[in-house]
Amino acid sequence: MTAYKHDVLIIGSGAAGLSLALRINKHAKVAVLSKGTLTSASTYYAQGGVAAVLDETDSVGAHIQDTLAAGAGLCHEDTVRFTVESGPGAIQWLVDLGVDFTTQKGKTSYHLAKEGGHSHRRIIHAADATGYAISNSLIGQAQQQGNIQLLEDYIAIDLITLKKLGLQGDRCVGVYVLNQKTGHVEVHLSKAVVIATGGASKAYRYTSNPDIATGDGIAMAWRAGCRVANMEFNQFHPTCLYHPEAKSFLITEAIRGEGGQLKLPSGERFMHRFDARGELAPRDIVARAIDHEMKRLGADCLFLDISHKSPAFITSHFPTVYKRCMELGIDITQSPIPVVPAAHYTCGGIVVDLDGQTDLEGLYTIGESSFTGLHGANRMASNSLLECFVFAQSASEKINKQLQESFQFPEVSGWDESLVTNSDEDVIISHNWDELRSFMWDYVGIVRTNKRLQRARNRVELLQQEIHDYYSNYRVSNDLLELRNLVTVSDLIIRCAQLRKESRGLHFTLDYPGLLKNSTDSVLTPHNAPLFTARKPRNHEKSQDHPSKIEVSISSPQ
Ligand code: FAD
Ligand code: SIN
Repeated sequence: MTAYKHDVLIIGSGAAGLSLALRINKHAKVAVLSKGTLTSASTYYAQGGVAAVLDETDSVGAHIQDTLAAGAGLCHEDTVRFTVESGPGAIQWLVDLGVDFTTQKGKTSYHLAKEGGHSHRRIIHAADATGYAISNSLIGQAQQQGNIQLLEDYIAIDLITLKKLGLQGDRCVGVYVLNQKTGHVEVHLSKAVVIATGGASKAYRYTSNPDIATGDGIAMAWRAGCRVANMEFNQFHPTCLYHPEAKSFLITEAIRGEGGQLKLPSGERFMHRFDARGELAPRDIVARAIDHEMKRLGADCLFLDISHKSPAFITSHFPTVYKRCMELGIDITQSPIPVVPAAHYTCGGIVVDLDGQTDLEGLYTIGESSFTGLHGANRMASNSLLECFVFAQSASEKINKQLQESFQFPEVSGWDESLVTNSDEDVIISHNWDELRSFMWDYVGIVRTNKRLQRARNRVELLQQEIHDYYSNYRVSNDLLELRNLVTVSDLIIRCAQLRKESRGLHFTLDYPGLLKNSTDSVLTPHNAPLFTARKPRNHEKSQDHPSKIEVSISSPQ
């Protein structure tokens, strides 16, 4: 079997992956994988914008302070400073790339929006379709670069490391990839591998995220022996559209930034009872307040009302939200929007340094799948895209240097399918998907308890066994691979949540409602992680490297 060889192999075509691809030296051969089309990424759906200090009344110090406050004491201050200071340069890079950000009416300066937790207007945006504008520019530019190969419908299965091949030393040397067009698993070797696979919010029944958000990169890195941290901090966005026909549609926080009011079914406002900042309190507080009021009233949803603004203002600032709601019969210039919280963002992820370097040589992670320390216990709105661009730049600089070093591609035999057959029971996959996402929502959601977490833990262990058996015996498919990864990241979320004996930021538990004094990150370290393909050993795999269970060592919060 042919092994494809690259200088840089990037898994993911969102803001993080494509920005990095464009910053790699032009003489290097770069491949970008997307498991769907190039636009099947959270980036494409981003609404509000990108946070950066762009106005003279704002300051780096203020952006840092706001980020630290939203992060509830767990942000890494060096990462926050690095990211915020790099923000204006990252925005200039996007402007130079041709991203058409919204300007102030009649002026050439950019219109800056406000969102929860921000003390200043600092969100640069393209109306309420910022992700669409950014994705189009990134994809357009990447398509013009002769050194960048864009591979759609390629799903990465697992990382290839020297250790797993039974060779001396340890580093990442490539990826096994299912080419969904041919149905065959291919070997892709690369001098540098970059995980830019986004978050894991599909672990929850209700989410604002597109279908790709199944935590694949986090699960792959964990299986390859990398540390993962702070997975308990899954962010729930307070306002997703509540409508039987609306799948995962977000109502941007920028609406609250322009005066949108949260209301009970009676029409009464309530946020001031929970936080002096009202509708513009950080997301964890607003989502919890909505959850509390919905449970107290037995309501299916609450409401977000911007109809006191003029129709011209609403349709020019929020054309995407206006259009989608209109399609569903809701005229937001006249009536409030029915909203519910939904899983939105994975604050934890694969542990990296300021260059996106993971624990494994040759492997980098950037964007939502990484844990840089920027977000602490709760990400501030619009800091996510910023992190993608800033770390794409720093990681690209490190990779460009790494490419100057000598590298020998190892010999890797192909993917062995001799011991597996076609599945005759795909219903198991869909059933397990539903079960997993339901108990994660019910037991590991906005409000947690010890009992609920233990229930979830028991179920996830059973599911892991079942999926492991299934994976070992049948040919891989997109759904099976995603389920395998989802159950792994769900397990990591639950483990981290069980470690945290306090309520902080996005992790709220009735059993420990207070804050601990010296809280730290929850870091999970796989001892024996190279579980690799976790199926019957194939001819290129060392069977002794396949523990039936991953042991973890844990640094728990104090
Ligand atoms: P993504 O953009 O999610 O891209 C992941 C890529 O990896 C995709 O191409 C996917 O196909 C690919 N992939 C995944 N697994 C595999 C695999 N196994 N093999 C091959 N490819 C794979 N943040 C902000 O800062 N501002 C906003 O306004 C904002 N609005 C948002 C609105 C919505 C509706 C959502 C869902 C998120 C929003 N966020 C926002 C968050 C932000 O969009 C994401 O955190 C960010 O886009 C993540 O970028 P990424 O490149 O890390 O991942
Ligand atoms: C939004 O527009 O509300 C999403 C912003 C974000 O997730 O940062």
